[in-house]
Amino acid sequence: MKRCHHLCRLLPLWLSLVILSFSHSSYGDNVTYDHRALVINGVRRVLISGSIHYPRSTPEMWPDLIQKAKDGGLDVVETYVFWNLHEPVQGQYDFEGRKDIVKFVKTVAEAGLYVHLRIGPYVCAEWNYGGFPLWLHFIPGIKFRTDNEPFKTEMQRFTAKIVDMMKQENLYASQGGPIILSQIENEYGNIDSAYGAAAQRYIQWSASMALSLDTGVPWVMCQQSDAPDPIINTCNGFYCDQFSPNSNNKPKMWTENWSGWFLSFGGSAPYRPPQDLAFAVARFFQRGGTFQNYYMYQGGTNFGRTTGGPFIATSYDYDAPIDEYGLLNQPKWGHLRDLHKVIKKCEPALIATDPAYTSLGQNLEAHVYKTSSGACAAFLANINTQDATVKFNGKTYQLPGWSVSILPDCKNVVYNTAQINSQETTSEMRYLSSISEGTNQPLSRLSSSGWSYIKEPVGISKADAFTRNGLVEQINTTADASDYLWYSISFNITMGEPWLISGEQTLLHVESLGHVLRAFVNGYYIGGGKGSADNSKISLSKLIILDKGKNTIDLLSATVGLQNYGAFFDLSGAGVTGPVTLSANGVTFDLSPYVWTYQIGLKGEDMSLFDVSDDSASLWLSDSTLPTNVPLVWYKTQFQAPAGNDPVAIDFTGMGKGEAWINGQSIGRFWPNYTAPLSGCSDSCNYKGAYSSSKCLKKCGKPSQQLYHVPRSFLKEGANTMVLFEEEGGDPTKISFATRHTGSLCAHVSEMHPAPVNFEVYPELAVSKQKLGPMVHVTCSGPDQLINEVKFASFGTPQGTCGSYSHGKCSSTNALSVVQQACVGMNSCSVPVSTKAFGDPCRGVTKSLAIEATCSS
Ligand code: GAL
Repeated sequence: MKRCHHLCRLLPLWLSLVILSFSHSSYGDNVTYDHRALVINGVRRVLISGSIHYPRSTPEMWPDLIQKAKDGGLDVVETYVFWNLHEPVQGQYDFEGRKDIVKFVKTVAEAGLYVHLRIGPYVCAEWNYGGFPLWLHFIPGIKFRTDNEPFKTEMQRFTAKIVDMMKQENLYASQGGPIILSQIENEYGNIDSAYGAAAQRYIQWSASMALSLDTGVPWVMCQQSDAPDPIINTCNGFYCDQFSPNSNNKPKMWTENWSGWFLSFGGSAPYRPPQDLAFAVARFFQRGGTFQNYYMYQGGTNFGRTTGGPFIATSYDYDAPIDEYGLLNQPKWGHLRDLHKVIKKCEPALIATDPAYTSLGQNLEAHVYKTSSGACAAFLANINTQDATVKFNGKTYQLPGWSVSILPDCKNVVYNTAQINSQETTSEMRYLSSISEGTNQPLSRLSSSGWSYIKEPVGISKADAFTRNGLVEQINTTADASDYLWYSISFNITMGEPWLISGEQTLLHVESLGHVLRAFVNGYYIGGGKGSADNSKISLSKLIILDKGKNTIDLLSATVGLQNYGAFFDLSGAGVTGPVTLSANGVTFDLSPYVWTYQIGLKGEDMSLFDVSDDSASLWLSDSTLPTNVPLVWYKTQFQAPAGNDPVAIDFTGMGKGEAWINGQSIGRFWPNYTAPLSGCSDSCNYKGAYSSSKCLKKCGKPSQQLYHVPRSFLKEGANTMVLFEEEGGDPTKISFATRHTGSLCAHVSEMHPAPVNFEVYPELAVSKQKLGPMVHVTCSGPDQLINEVKFASFGTPQGTCGSYSHGKCSSTNALSVVQQACVGMNSCSVPVSTKAFGDPCRGVTKSLAIEATCSS
């Protein structure tokens, strides 16, 4: 305590030194830890971190995302390292473009933020095969994630490679760089019991291997309660306030606070209310935590074939504080920014001591951090769903249900997790902007005349096809070189077979491990099937008519991202492992054990039809009979990029399933006709009570993913090329382009809310903060934008949500004019929520101010 007494007084000075000297190239930071916190250059730190995965956006987007993270109050940016991106072929490395991890780390450093580098190299992350390269699976004798020499050799080699790269660039804090923390393995503790006694040895080995790499900064293992010293075991989850590390010498750290949840094709869209997310964060700091990371802070996009699975969607938006496109997800971003501000105000007290707990009643908790030098911060929590009134230090406080109030001076509530002061914005897609080649007419859809096509052959068409006796497992066969594997069998029907009669109906039955199946008989598509995120298996039964003489059954099996989670996830199979049977006249014939012909991938893939510089120009047909709604077609068109700099999306409505390339770069798999279940959704989920990934869902009955992000950097001026492979059947002329914009700005603040924390954002207010009561504050998203209209303003008891507010029973008559006067023509404005400004339309009733405004574009 003595030591802290001294340090705490120096802290403001220290903090400013840290900030000033952050480009710290000359000498390194000393990063250690103790029971309370990570300790940087001798000072314990409260650190707010957020995950942004470099390959899920583009280098062109990184600076803006990182700046928005910094503006949101983050100190640290976390990323995994994705082994299969960097070493697609054993020994051949790739660190270009979106894979330029060194550039990413440097970009974070330039913004003055720290980095947590989670090397894994198993990362889970809804990433294909959990980040493992497929070639790893084919190393003789290998067993993943256990005490196995071939595996350990490769894991060590790649981990060392990454550490060396970082060291060479002086990127560890110990060298003057931004990396203050590294992770080895990932949540192994969740599944290690399945690996028996070897699991223990593997964890010991992982720990000493990591330590031997001598990064000069601490290592963590998440969800690993037996993490060996000095590795810090950390918590992942929706709440981690109850967590404690496995030693009293380690700080309480939260490496994954799930800010929302991931989307699956065929699933509804999960979201997590900001009040609950803020509650979870506040509870963590209330109960002794000092490092917290949002997983994700910006989720981004699973470009190409990088999604894990099966069935994880291309969008990895995650309902994170920054959306997939890089726009702020409000009010989540703002509500958390306010929270981070308050937590930073509490930092001197938080780092100095453990909290002292007192009960304020059932499920009502007070935690106080009080130092001998007079710093005091208190957290008051109401874990019930009903509101409560509590007495704390002789004063009375109202605590809304499922909320935490933070008192950075132990007296005044500066923030409550359930009371959102931040503005909310609606995001909208504008469908107008594609301009087809040659004309200058804006078209929301591409005209059919602009399309050319190539039909992908049904069945075996490549020279490298091969035969096997019996049915094969898909991933072991394709090594994931493609989503696709053709299974083909031919047989003759003569008059002698009683079980098969040509011209009569025969039942074809196919059993597949998944993920998607398309069946063709004698060249005709007879139907298909698909699994789901919960069950990838397919069982297809179709009545077919066979011909006399030769018949061919072609089964196209497709994977949709390889498994990324669970014990032995690497061994989960896919494809038509059978049986495949034909039945007629009460007799069933099993085709499974016979000779099948196999083709890995599509002919069009081999020909690189998606590549702009391919030499197949003459093969593309542009006759008037553009085939639509038939399976297996490659489509190509040219288009002009939507004008301006707003993020671009393609709406794939009208298409079935496939993959899309823009100027040769894959924007991922599209699957707009896989819709979410009809039930289980609510647009305004109650944030009170424990959250789970299935608690708050949107988009029931709608396509799980209709819009697909096209990063601006994939586009160029003039003609752009789009190539699609449509596997099931679709109409590309129905595709449209859209740009993403911030729509309305809304805010709804009650008289009961604390004054704004983020005082700096109110430059137009010359009053001192003490005099401020609650305020509504809105800002246009661009610095040059001005508020052009106040669509709604009501002081009293307004109802509804952004976009559909209405006046309540009580409303002041001058609200609109007061707000108009304060806001119209301004880039941002603040309006006090008080009867002084609006008069009192209903005495004795708690009033609030709701406004909706728009900005000029
Ligand atoms: C965790 C895992 C992350 C991610 C997350 C769900 O279990 O560590 O990598 O997969 O779940 O989004």
